[in-house]
Amino acid sequence: MKAGNPKMTTEPIAADVVSLNLMTIEGQRAFITAHVVGESGIPRRYQEGFALWKNLAPEFPVLRGAAMAWIGQFGSAPPWTESVTKLPERGLAFIGQTGCGKSLLAACIARALIERGVSVKWQNALELFSRIRRSWNKEGEESEGDILEDMTRPQVLFLDDLGKEKPTRWVLERLYTILERRFSDQKIICFTSNDSGAALVEKMRGDGCEDLAEPIISRLSGMCDTIGEFPKTDFRRKQPMAIVEPTKERG
Ligand SMILES: Nc1ncnc2c1ncn2[C@@H]1O[C@H](COP(=O)(O)OP(=O)(O)O)[C@@H](O)[C@H]1O
Ligand SMILES: [Mg+2]
Repeated sequence: MKAGNPKMTTEPIAADVVSLNLMTIEGQRAFITAHVVGESGIPRRYQEGFALWKNLAPEFPVLRGAAMAWIGQFGSAPPWTESVTKLPERGLAFIGQTGCGKSLLAACIARALIERGVSVKWQNALELFSRIRRSWNKEGEESEGDILEDMTRPQVLFLDDLGKEKPTRWVLERLYTILERRFSDQKIICFTSNDSGAALVEKMRGDGCEDLAEPIISRLSGMCDTIGEFPKTDFRRKQPMAIVEPTKERG
């Protein structure tokens, strides 16, 4: 049977256990990957990963090479069921102007890791801050503990768009706890941002919160290497149709 192109789904996987039994090993692997990718939080438009990738600028083949080298540091390749025990020491920072391709490249890597059996969580930073704020509400869907667990359990956490909002002291404290926990558990964090270093501290510090913004950014810098220079181009403006109906594109 052909592996096919399973649609991304967030439905419980158990519903399809019968059809899973009828699939080839590759089919099962593709099906499970699609399910795990769907659950990971990777934005839907980027879920197809490197299948979407185009060499739009001279920097891109270099960035792609750096991405492949980093992915190669993870211990296990398929068979998918093997658990990955070897992780790189440091994560990746994707720094560059809006629209230069940070989130797409990060998502390509996230998907590639899932295909290797690595547990991955994708979290937009603004959404994380509002999840934390919502958790103060007693009737909220999830508690602070649930969020901490969700942010610290996966082997690799991708934090997208850091620095778009100045969080409150309370939110910054939670972010610091997440980073500290991941650091002490030797887990990987990757992040995307328009800024790094002092400029990012400036974006993150709310009123009188330098004492938290500083150590957060210094902790993040200590945990991540910059993947490389992104082109100084906004591909969203330049090539608004760069990604059109990815599933059809692949036939
Ligand atoms: N390597 C690439 N191949 C195809 N399209 C790309 C590539 N890099 C960027 N793009 C296009 O640029 C747009 C912006 O990319 P994105 O990763 O969202 O930017 P950023 O996160 O830096 O703001 C994407 O929607 C995509 O259409
Ligand atoms: Mg982005």
